[in-house]
Amino acid sequence: PTLEKDILPLYFGWFLAKRDEDNLRKTAHEFLEQLGNLKAFKKRLQAFGVEDKHKLDLLKYFAKTPNILHCTTKFCDFGKVPGSEEYAQLEAVRKNYSRGFTLHISALFVTPRTAGAQIELTQEQLHLWPSDAEKEVMPKDILPRGSRAHITLGCASDIQDVQTGIDLLEFVKLQQAGREGENMGELLGGKISYYDNGMWMLALPRKKEVKTIFSGYYG
Ligand code: 2AM
Repeated sequence: PTLEKDILPLYFGWFLAKRDEDNLRKTAHEFLEQLGNLKAFKKRLQAFGVEDKHKLDLLKYFAKTPNILHCTTKFCDFGKVPGSEEYAQLEAVRKNYSRGFTLHISALFVTPRTAGAQIELTQEQLHLWPSDAEKEVMPKDILPRGSRAHITLGCASDIQDVQTGIDLLEFVKLQQAGREGENMGELLGGKISYYDNGMWMLALPRKKEVKTIFSGYYG
């Protein structure tokens, strides 16, 4: 018999368990609703292509939401992306395939392009994180490994989901440079900060834990 090659997925990642997925969608919904109603937000709508003081329905703005909430580790495009095979062959990937993991969400964010949840990976989870994930997007900056880790919650029309991680790295870059963002009060019990250019980040008062399974998505 011939030995057939393994089929590589569209991407590898951590997939949220149904109950935690429903719960996170609800939290995202509340976040977008409350941010849209925030006075400070209504005064800063230009980056979203809307005149100030008008109402922007962020739920409609981010109508494109993923079918399954997940945190991508490696985008493979069925093997077309360089390094996919090597990633799939990593001992950590093979050993942990279909294993359960708890991810920790530390913040929620919105830009004129995307809405997402920032993930703080544990040392163990970092073993599944591609070494070049941050360099791929910002080759000139030295950003902590894992700082691109996120869950896409929604995209504006005409925006690809890959943009969410790029937007998150923009926040991280500003924070690394000592920019805290302007404190705009509280939302969902956490501190909401504004970073210019329509970039908003909510630091959660407590990290939100979500149960996931590490696996591949074949589409
Ligand atoms: P996301 O991880 O920000 O949501 C299918 O498109 C999945 O793969 C999405 O989850 C998407 O973005 C992610 N993805 C698409 N293209 C990518 C790329 N070039 N690099 C990393 N992740 C990508």
